[in-house]
Amino acid sequence: MANRVCSADVFPNGVWEQGLTLLITPGSTHHSTIYIMKKITPNEFTTIARYIYDISGIYLDQTKAYLIETRLKGILKEIGADSYQELYHRAKSDITRALEMKIINAISTQETMFFRDNSPFEIIRTMILPELVERKMSQPSLFPANIRIWSAACSTGQETYSIAIVLKELLSNPSKFNIRLLGTDISESAIACASCGEYNQLAVERGLPKDKLDKYFTQNGLKWKVKDDISAMCAFKRHNLMDSFSSLGRFDIVLCRNVAIYFAQEDKVRLFNKLADILEPGGYLIVGSSESVTGITSRFEARMNLKMIFYQLINQNKK
Ligand SMILES: C[S@@+](CC[C@H](N)C(=O)[O-])C[C@H]1O[C@@H](n2cnc3c(N)ncnc32)[C@H](O)[C@@H]1O
Repeated sequence: MANRVCSADVFPNGVWEQGLTLLITPGSTHHSTIYIMKKITPNEFTTIARYIYDISGIYLDQTKAYLIETRLKGILKEIGADSYQELYHRAKSDITRALEMKIINAISTQETMFFRDNSPFEIIRTMILPELVERKMSQPSLFPANIRIWSAACSTGQETYSIAIVLKELLSNPSKFNIRLLGTDISESAIACASCGEYNQLAVERGLPKDKLDKYFTQNGLKWKVKDDISAMCAFKRHNLMDSFSSLGRFDIVLCRNVAIYFAQEDKVRLFNKLADILEPGGYLIVGSSESVTGITSRFEARMNLKMIFYQLINQNKK
């Protein structure tokens, strides 16, 4: 097994494991610490990248070898595996799938924040929800109208709670509606954090205006907990976007932001077509600010507002 060996001063903290202490000058007390990180071999890269793809759809090309090394090194150390090949075999033979989940938690990028990019939430507030409410109210019914929103790949829940806050502030009479906000993610640890609805100071300072923090969260020591009226609107569940959506029901709005960037082109095609299948007629799709479904599927019409593109399902009869 090839190992990288280098001085601590040359490489950033966290990348290198502390290996051994080397006395530079015999007899002197001056010493320097040598850091070692297991380097992944090309064969191991192929095996592990294929395995990660199979369990999550996350596609890693050869340029991402460093990502596997830096993100999985902690697991290697924790389970005492000598190589990435051993990690792979142990994960494959673990019938509890706990090691598989550890790998998914470590390899997925869970960067998120409240009201990320702001425009999607402004568009939902000023355009999508008013349109949707008008459409729902024009269909007479004895029952409250359903409003169903899916935050697909919601990470630790900030996106889902941001939508709940928008709904709470916009709908003057929420009892007229049966609101269901679903947040899903492949990462068990992310979903556990989302379900708990508790965030540290740094997390609430990222994107959440002070008035909303005071109104919708309760301080609990060093943490802030989402209030019951907001959390009651949200449900969270672990779900892999590579799997079937049939157990999730149908939705009026889907946010699928900053996740398809990790998928291969053919998986993006499958994903956005599956999203089209579970949207209600006239349903809306919002993707990340650097993402687009143009050229991936023709099932959506691009619309623009506040300099942002969002998508609306094309009525099959209109096609
Ligand atoms: C960068 S975060 C985006 C979070 C949020 N949508 C946002 O834009 O702020 C990407 C999320 O996608 C999740 N993810 C990656 N692959 C997934 C898959 N196959 N199915 C569901 N979630 C996945 C990761 O666990 C991570 O939480």
